[in-house]
Amino acid sequence: MLKFASKPQSAALAFLVAGSAWFLIGTLYGLVAALHLMAPELYNNISWLNFGRMRPIHVNTVLFGFVATTLVGCAIYYVPALLRTRLWSERLGWFSWLCWNAAVLSGPTVFPFGLQQNREYTEYLYPFKVLIMLAILTLIVNLTLTIAGRKEKTLYVSVWYAVGALIWTAGVYPIGNVMWRPQTQALPGLVDSILLWFYGHNMVGLLLTPLAIGIAYFVLPRVTRAPLYSHRLSLVGFWALVATYTQIGGHHILQAPIPNWLRTVTVVGSIMMILPVFVVLANLWLTTRGRGMKLWGDPAGRFVLAGTMWYLLVCLQGPLQSLPSVQAVTHFTNWVIGHSHIAVLGFAGFIALGGMWHMLPLVCGRKLYSARLVNLQFGLLLFGLVGFFAVLTTAGLIQGHAWATGETVYVVLPSLNVYMALRAMLGLFIIAGAAVGLYNVVMTLRHGEPLEPAALEAEPLDAARAGEVSP
Ligand code: HEM
Ligand code: HEM
Repeated sequence: MLKFASKPQSAALAFLVAGSAWFLIGTLYGLVAALHLMAPELYNNISWLNFGRMRPIHVNTVLFGFVATTLVGCAIYYVPALLRTRLWSERLGWFSWLCWNAAVLSGPTVFPFGLQQNREYTEYLYPFKVLIMLAILTLIVNLTLTIAGRKEKTLYVSVWYAVGALIWTAGVYPIGNVMWRPQTQALPGLVDSILLWFYGHNMVGLLLTPLAIGIAYFVLPRVTRAPLYSHRLSLVGFWALVATYTQIGGHHILQAPIPNWLRTVTVVGSIMMILPVFVVLANLWLTTRGRGMKLWGDPAGRFVLAGTMWYLLVCLQGPLQSLPSVQAVTHFTNWVIGHSHIAVLGFAGFIALGGMWHMLPLVCGRKLYSARLVNLQFGLLLFGLVGFFAVLTTAGLIQGHAWATGETVYVVLPSLNVYMALRAMLGLFIIAGAAVGLYNVVMTLRHGEPLEPAALEAEPLDAARAGEVSP
């Protein structure tokens, strides 16, 4: 075991495999929660199947387990590859893997007993939060020392995003989890909500988003064999992201009595977010211009391309729902759940999967078992997710209308039933997509044909070249 843990790229592989497994497990819990919303009597008051316990298992397992784990797996492959070196320590990578996955595992094993902190995205118990911090800090050490020992001088923008994401998260995570107060892991009153949403928002904005963008900057130029449109623009996007994202967590609590200055900062900042988003998308899409079919024809490239399109939609919807007048209608409704799913699965999840399908062969030295299964997974996820978005947004507007007109909840609830049933049904497509993906990963590792050593050596180096060229 110890010998395997020192094998080059074994830690990246471990993250990718775990991410695929969590994808299936996390979405199954989503189904359990969705069925409860469809048929509230279904579990006959069995406490450990209760929505209040299943929902956090779902959310934490897909967010930290599937999406973040896969994104980190890709990062610890592409950072050394871009720097023409090896990860500083595979064993340290495995240590990070152990800490991270032990924390994720605590969701399905500990939450059903009601042992969780009831603050969204901070549900893990304190010892597991410590493990998450250990994982993040050791990943930072490992990547920083990898950079220190690099053979490639240029720090391609993907490296910036990977290391930036981890450093920002090392700052944001303890703040949001109030880790300096282990007894409560919370502060009294409104200040707690403000800190919590500074953190909750940055988990998607400063962890998932930069890690996903880092992958897009790596995969798109490689698949299309095109030089990056502009290296300079990529750095403008990087700094603009951190400058704006950190200001806007307050848009999650606009309906609470937060100070007016915070309301103003958060709404203005949310609109300004369009800027870094467009800079990144323009740079990526201009890189691939004229090569769209090549990109679409590559199973991994197709996932990443679709992920960038979801990013555009998410980031047009985001500023819209940050307007207080719009949010007064949409806030307490399924509209937000629709946004969450296209954001976390559509944008970050699709790009994580594209990154994984692109890098898995390079990490394990075997060709993909089946490119057709990757395309099948793409179709299943796309169908399920487009359906989710349509159904949840419609349900949200019905709820919002009732909210605005002062209708009582028990009159509105029965009309939502059909949407809850449709969501559960559409979820089956997403779950099937997760199962197909896990099968493909396992079969690749067991039966994938070996890649020629020349392909393994040449490919990562080309990527670094692609990134250096600006117009
Ligand atoms: C990897 C795929 C998925 C991701 C990344 C994901 C992500 C999320 C996130 C971030 C939330 C929190 C939303 C919020 O509080 O605004 C959530 C809630 C939820 N998700 Fe998912 N989800 C996925 C798949 C599914 C599937 C397949 C189902 C159903 C079969 C499902 C059902 C639910 C339910 C029922 C909730 C709670 C909604 C509520 O509180 O009203 N999700 N999901
Ligand atoms: C231009 C960028 C974006 C803006 C302005 C924005 C805005 C918002 C707003 C205002 C809400 C709260 C809605 C409400 O509660 O009424 C929200 C929720 C959410 N957003 Fe975004 N968003 C953006 C991008 C993203 C991205 C890129 C992701 C994921 C990677 C994301 C993930 C989420 C999630 C998971 C929630 C639900 C949080 C919860 O209540 O549990 N958003 N967003």
